[in-house]
Amino acid sequence: MTDIKKLISQMTLEEKASLCSGKDAWRTKPIERLGVPSVMVSDGPHGLRKQAREGAGQNESIEAVCFPCACASAASFDRTLTERLGAALGAEARAEGVAVVLGPAVNHKRSPLCGRNFEYYSEDPFLTGEMAAGFIRGVQKNDVGTALKHFAANNQEFRRLTVSSEVDDAALREIYLANFEGAVKGGKPWTVMGSYNRINGQYAGEAPWLLTGILRGSWGFDGMVMSDWGAVNDRVAGLRAGLELQMPSCGGRTDAQIVEAVQSGKLDAAVLDRAAERVLKMVYKYTDSHKTAFFDKEADHRTAAELAGECAVLLKNTGVLPLDKGKKVVFIGEYANAPRIQGGGSSHINTKNIPGALQAAGEIPGVTFAQGWRLSDKGPDPDLIAEAAEAARGADAAVIFAGLPDACECEGYDRAGLDLPENQNALISAVAEAQPNTAVVLHNGSPVAMPWLDGVGAVLEMYLAGEGSGEAAAALLFGDVNPSGKLPETFPMRLQDTPAYLDFGGDGHTVRYGEGVFTGYRWYDARELPVLFPFGHGLSYTTFEYRGLTLSSEAPAEGEKLTVTLKVKNVGTRWGREAVQLYVRDRATSFRRPEKELKGFAKAALAPGEEKELRFELGDRAFAHWEAGEKRWKISAGEYDVMAAASSRDIRLTASLRHGGSAPLCFAVDENTTLGELLDDPRTHGAVSLLLKVFLPRGKRSDVSDAAITPEMVRAAALSAPLRMVRDMIPAKAYDAAVAQLNRMLAKPAQK
Ligand code: GLC
Repeated sequence: MTDIKKLISQMTLEEKASLCSGKDAWRTKPIERLGVPSVMVSDGPHGLRKQAREGAGQNESIEAVCFPCACASAASFDRTLTERLGAALGAEARAEGVAVVLGPAVNHKRSPLCGRNFEYYSEDPFLTGEMAAGFIRGVQKNDVGTALKHFAANNQEFRRLTVSSEVDDAALREIYLANFEGAVKGGKPWTVMGSYNRINGQYAGEAPWLLTGILRGSWGFDGMVMSDWGAVNDRVAGLRAGLELQMPSCGGRTDAQIVEAVQSGKLDAAVLDRAAERVLKMVYKYTDSHKTAFFDKEADHRTAAELAGECAVLLKNTGVLPLDKGKKVVFIGEYANAPRIQGGGSSHINTKNIPGALQAAGEIPGVTFAQGWRLSDKGPDPDLIAEAAEAARGADAAVIFAGLPDACECEGYDRAGLDLPENQNALISAVAEAQPNTAVVLHNGSPVAMPWLDGVGAVLEMYLAGEGSGEAAAALLFGDVNPSGKLPETFPMRLQDTPAYLDFGGDGHTVRYGEGVFTGYRWYDARELPVLFPFGHGLSYTTFEYRGLTLSSEAPAEGEKLTVTLKVKNVGTRWGREAVQLYVRDRATSFRRPEKELKGFAKAALAPGEEKELRFELGDRAFAHWEAGEKRWKISAGEYDVMAAASSRDIRLTASLRHGGSAPLCFAVDENTTLGELLDDPRTHGAVSLLLKVFLPRGKRSDVSDAAITPEMVRAAALSAPLRMVRDMIPAKAYDAAVAQLNRMLAKPAQK
């Protein structure tokens, strides 16, 4: 391995500063004098968007393979799937001389309106972190790096380069950072890409608490942080915060600022050395490797189609699917021939190998086609609809291929609503009326409204599943592949029901995250709202039974791993896969917590009649919440439920436990410490109980008609009383002695 420290010791100030910004749109700067090479980075999360020509247009890149987008791969609930996807993509990158793939993109799906949700994984941070970690491991096994992005709280496209995400501490830790945390710890990405936006008023790319305190200090990240393209606001502040590489090239402008800052003493030279070392570590991780790779387009296309089949989610099926081969089936709609396979923007892959489901089903007798709708329609086309309805009426079954056109969702702008285009809705209703055996296949990057749902027999959600989605759809429709995906996000009944409805987008300067930790299914559960399809939902052509949920302990202590096992059995007639979910319900915390949170998942492949045991390890974080007042992850002592589920609203088995909880912090009281806090702390409970007995009136609850102050009211007021109120009620000496005694008690860890 190249001796990086030695190299840095030989560098001039200007040479070190030159490493901190790109050479052009996609490359780092070389240092010829010392033989430091330049390396290339390229998008993106679901395919290699290598722009070989300097100044290439937005969609101009080499021909590559488009794999399932994250919205689809998350639905597989299978870590090995994203690892397989990453491994194939990483090999392409290595073969094409790309050192870092700019992905995965893991931002939280806060609202279905975010235009870039197709590129993100889930409304649950645990699922996102696990799936992203698989992708990172896959890519990096090729000695090619990844860029975990966009760090952090970049959850809308509107004003994304300047808007400030106003997020409370608990929501930040438990939701908006937790997805990155899981990916960093599980995948160890070579790099992280900072986001454009501000967080609580400060640019993410200039936030030391984020890029150094949390990312490196708390999570142990040991790689390099790069900016998003054009995201840098104050270069010196960014360098100091822990952002090493500005992209794209700035023509040397900010390199000069760095030199000036060091020379004037505004910037510690050690910070620049640290940055140069981190950049060079990424460069040499790639160039010092002798790994070779071959870009096999055909093999990767087959992989893309196979993965697409494992991502699709069967949302509804009254028995219409799987279709019988040989029966008369009419495929309808633009996407039957040319499915939408990806979203627009920087992740867009240049590929021509996109066989539609109609082409893929070409060998199957009885399959015909009717146009039904076109991308170019300005609205419903009555002739096309009538023709399609007539064809459906004369067939045994009809399959409509629908979804969101690029114009509805894309990087750079957000969606206006949940609706599919009107020409599609009108077509689906007309065909469903003519043919009871109607199925709808959807190609969309985020949830859509389904006004026609009651009238159709089946809905297969393909999401944006890459260039193999046509072959996968045909295989799924005819039962050659059994659907096994589950929803990584809730499909709401109405936009008005969504967690971010009241403040998504914000006023252009700030956007308030008013729902706090109650995002996604956490929101719909807490509000007891009905949903179109719940998080974790997905059907199969077979059925599965769960039994025998066991816990390794019913009274775990902090630091103790809990092993959870259960058995899942295929009780149907077809081979299939089942993504079993494990949720934890916190019944111990005194303030409102989400009704359940995903803390484990595993996918089992089972032949008819086969049963397997699944095993999960739950650590402290499965029971902890972020205690903002104490600035730590904390487990409340008390009751928790562990639930095995087929979806967030299909709980199959439940077991309960009593957790010992986190040891209370040692701390010293201050004048605003309340008697209630001291009563809750086992170390001071006795002393405060005594104090309350002395001060509070005894006796039964007075007659409810009595207007006098009741004992309960006095007690409640006392528990909210800060010590400074007690100070004015007793002699100073007694107060000082009491405080000293309390602090002696609180200076020791609580006895278990
Ligand atoms: C874009 C995207 C980012 C991408 C980068 C380079 O603005 O936000 O995801 O990797 O620029 O194309």
